[in-house]
Amino acid sequence: STRPRVLSGIQPTAGSFHLGNYLGAVRQYVALQDANDAFYMVVDLHAITVPQDPAELRANTRVSAAQLLAAGLDPDRCALFVQSHVPEHAQLAWVMNCLTGFGEASRMTQFKDKSAKQGSDSASVGLFTYPILQVADILVYQANAVPVGEDQRQHVELTRDLAQRFNSRFGDTFTVPEAYIVKETAKIYDLQDPTVKMSKSASSPKGIVNLLDPPSQTAKKIKSAVTDTGTEVRFDEKEKPGVSNLLAIHSAISGTPVAELEERFAGRMYGDFKKEVAEVLVDFVTPFQQRFHEFHDDPAELDRTLAKGAAKAREVASVTLATAYDKVGF
Ligand code: ADP
Ligand code: NA
Repeated sequence: STRPRVLSGIQPTAGSFHLGNYLGAVRQYVALQDANDAFYMVVDLHAITVPQDPAELRANTRVSAAQLLAAGLDPDRCALFVQSHVPEHAQLAWVMNCLTGFGEASRMTQFKDKSAKQGSDSASVGLFTYPILQVADILVYQANAVPVGEDQRQHVELTRDLAQRFNSRFGDTFTVPEAYIVKETAKIYDLQDPTVKMSKSASSPKGIVNLLDPPSQTAKKIKSAVTDTGTEVRFDEKEKPGVSNLLAIHSAISGTPVAELEERFAGRMYGDFKKEVAEVLVDFVTPFQQRFHEFHDDPAELDRTLAKGAAKAREVASVTLATAYDKVGF
């Protein structure tokens, strides 16, 4: 096929995806699956860069795959698979590790953030080279576009640099990809601290909306979201980060333009506004969870889906890997 290729992945670490994962990334996966040859994976290799319990990892990988299906990925219209089922990722990653400068890898800000949390001495070398595995993830499919949130921009830049470096050293081999970032939802913020991104590792339970949380709990979290001392429901990320975050969430889920929401809530209280944001989310997560359970409760079918996805992925990945290995002299 000559259609553009798209690749992205999501970690199974926490089990449930949060609203930032969904709006920043997964929604775009769904939107892009028809016009592109799309490859989407649950990145279990990335998950073990921090300590994981094996049984939990295995369970969360299935929970993640079932959520991707519930979100609307159709295994007939994309390749949906688990990263460790496709050995070419790790095989190409070694080559990419050897092309990356130590200083260059040291500049990745996500490593700095994540290793600071663990104490930099106990952080694994895998956590350090994680962005380079991500480079291989993308290049092995010759992806043109990588749908991600803003926090991943630097890793896609590294991917572009390494693709170009490989191509100039060994001859044209890899497609140089671009990040596909939807501005309105590129960064969803923590409900309790709307100056930092919503994140599975950093957000407090009250600051993060998990798609698999009981809907009543999600409503509660929205109603206790931090706003400001003003009264106006207006989009202003600098002065009103909490309100702006809720506007972005409402607008993305309901499809109502932000300007229309501002108009609807002119002269009304934050409480009214939050109540509606909560309703919009409850109306979204309730059927999402029903679909999730249907996929999750049929493990044999889920296994078949993921095996089919891995086979589709390997058809492409094995060709790229063979070419790349040949070019470096293997
Ligand atoms: P997390 O950052 O919560 O550990 P992942 O690293 O698995 O989650 O990220 C999966 C996808 O979700 C990535 O494309 C990432 O950019 C996106 N993402 C994560 N958090 C947010 C957020 N708060 N807003 C928008 N996108 C996000
Ligand atoms: Na597709």
